[in-house]
Order: sequence, then C-alpha cells, then structure tokens
Amino acid sequence: MRAITYSRFGSADVLELTEQPDPHIGPDTLVVRVKAASVNPVDWKIRQGYLEGLIDVQLPAIPGWDVAGVVEQVGLDTPEFQVGDEVYGYVRKDTVQGGTFAELVAAPVRTLARKPASLSFEEAAAVPLAGLTAYEAIQRAGVKDGQTVLVHAAAGGVGAFAVQIAKALGARVIGTASEANQEFLRGLGAEPVTYGDGLADRVRALAPDGVDVVLDFVGGGTVAASAGNLADGGTITSIADPTARTEHGGHYVWVRPSVAGLDALTALFDAGKLSVEIAQVFDLADAADAHRANESGHTRGKVVVRV
Ligand SMILES: NC(=O)c1ccc[n+]([C@@H]2O[C@H](COP(=O)([O-])OP(=O)(O)OC[C@H]3O[C@@H](n4cnc5c(N)ncnc54)[C@H](OP(=O)(O)O)[C@@H]3O)[C@@H](O)[C@H]2O)c1
Repeated sequence: MRAITYSRFGSADVLELTEQPDPHIGPDTLVVRVKAASVNPVDWKIRQGYLEGLIDVQLPAIPGWDVAGVVEQVGLDTPEFQVGDEVYGYVRKDTVQGGTFAELVAAPVRTLARKPASLSFEEAAAVPLAGLTAYEAIQRAGVKDGQTVLVHAAAGGVGAFAVQIAKALGARVIGTASEANQEFLRGLGAEPVTYGDGLADRVRALAPDGVDVVLDFVGGGTVAASAGNLADGGTITSIADPTARTEHGGHYVWVRPSVAGLDALTALFDAGKLSVEIAQVFDLADAADAHRANESGHTRGKVVVRV
C-alpha cells in the first residue's frame, strides 16, 4: 500500500510517500480502507520529536490518528462491524507507527464508530480526535444550561467543536480568536473576543460577573491569565496546560478513544447541532503541505488529507 512515512524526526520535509506492507489484522482489530484522514497538532509535535519520552514512536512511522473509511477486513472478534461498513475513528494505539496517512490502517475496534450519515468522508475524518477532545473537556468541566463558557482558540480544530457542543447544552459562549475568525465564531453562536494584551479586561466587559467555565485550547500563559475571569465556583479545564489541574483545581484532559463519545458526536451531527469546518483538503502525496498548514497555528477548523 502507499503511505506517508518518516524515518527521522524533523520538519515536514521528512515526510515522504512510500510503498509499505499492508497492515496485519488482529483478533480485535479491523483493517479500514482509508478515504480521508486529518491533521492534528500532535501529529507534527510527534514528527518534530517534541513528545519524545511521552509518546512511544517506532521509526519509520506512518503519522495520523484520525480516519474515515470503509471496513475492508474484520478481526476474529469484532462483531460490531462488517466488511463494507462506513466508519470513523480516533485510531490511537500505544505506539506511533501504523497511522492513518495510508491507504489501509489496522484499527482496534475500541477506536471506531459508524460514520455519521450526514457527513462526507472528508468531513468525518476531521471529527474524531478534535471532536472527542471538545466533548471530553466539556464533560469533565460539567458544562450546563445557562452557564457562561469562555473558549480559548475557539476557531481551531477543537475550539469550533467545543463552541457548538457548549451551545447545544444551552451555555452562553465567549470565544477567543483573531479578527479574521470573528465572523466565523458569530456564525457558530459564540460572542468573539480578540486574544492578546488586555484579553481579561475584554472578557470582563462581556461577563462582569465572571465566567463559569474556562476551556483552554491554547496553553502558554492562558490558564493563569484567565483565572481572574472566573465567577465564584468557576473552573478551568485545559488540554494544553496541566497547571489547570495542579495549580487551579480544575482539569487537565488528554483525549481518549471513546466509541460512546463518537456516538454522542454522531447524534449531534444527525440532529443538525454540529457542523464541520474544513480549512483545506490535501491529497495524500501532499501530506507535508497539510502538516505545514496546521503547523502555522492559525487554521480555521481542520486540515484534511484525502486518500
Ligand atoms: N490534550 C489533548 O488531548 C489535546 C487534544 C487535541 C489538541 N490538543 C492541543 O490543543 C491545542 C489546540 O488544538 P487544535 O487542534 O484546536 O489546534 P489548531 O486547530 O491548530 O488551532 C488553531 C487555532 O488556534 C487559534 N489561536 C492561535 N493562537 C491563539 C491564541 N493565543 N489565543 C486564541 N486562539 C489562538 C487560531 O485562531 P486565529 O487564526 O484566529 O489566531 C486558530 O484558529 C494544540 O496545542 C494541540 O496540540 C491537546
């Protein structure tokens, strides 16, 4: 099969299109014919070698954790699916090696759910990791009807899903973004606010009594800077800064594969409460450009690779 691989850590230049053996089927694994995959920041952070010691990588590695495709082969004990089923998933394995930037991927059955019928393969591939992260962060924070939620990086892959999920729960959402993305955020139902110097004051002007939940999808000093915006009893949840938990008594979330979570997202798509924003679609052979696009740090929604 054709796949994108890298044999050493480095810039996007290390990514190349190569011929690889087809993946092996396991007893609780399915082989999926990949129609589309998507890029997450973790992909290029791993590729750069930034996450050595935290995530095990076996080189040469095929990058990519998000997939949408069709079941090509079923394992000995995977009664949930049949050959030909359309699926999507966050194909997180213990080791980074056989990823989704390939024509075929071996996916543990615990990572896959049925693709939402209303989404194309390209749209579905944009969902799993970012959508599950948004969903799990919102669940952990306990967002409820009537609360005010501040979402940092609201126009990004995770943020755009989080804004919509929080709105669907009945929350008022304030979202940080640059000017270029503020109209987009209004379209999702959020009140946009520009990040950078003076952000806390701008949030205070919108929510003088404070916000109930901060969702930090940026890191850096964002958690500390937002602490002063919390209402009494408010909490901070971060996916990028563990001090949200250790110093601020809130939560740090590292997304886990979850069939139930994917099914919950599917229900929101089917109910018309969730939509997918795609910044750009690249062919598999141009995966390096897809990585570069996401690495810019300013894409709106998701970068997708069609296979
Ligand atoms: N712990 C986990 O499980 C987990 C899961 C997923 C992601 N993450 C991490 O969470 C972060 C976000 O992921 P993502 O997929 O959403 O990334 P992304 O799609 O690449 O985020 C891009 C967005 O970030 C916005 N942005 C950049 N700098 C900002 C700032 N200082 N304040 C507010 N917005 C800013 C940009 O908006 P403008 O263009 O308007 O500037 C852009 O829309 C990454 O660091 C990623 O590694 C962690």
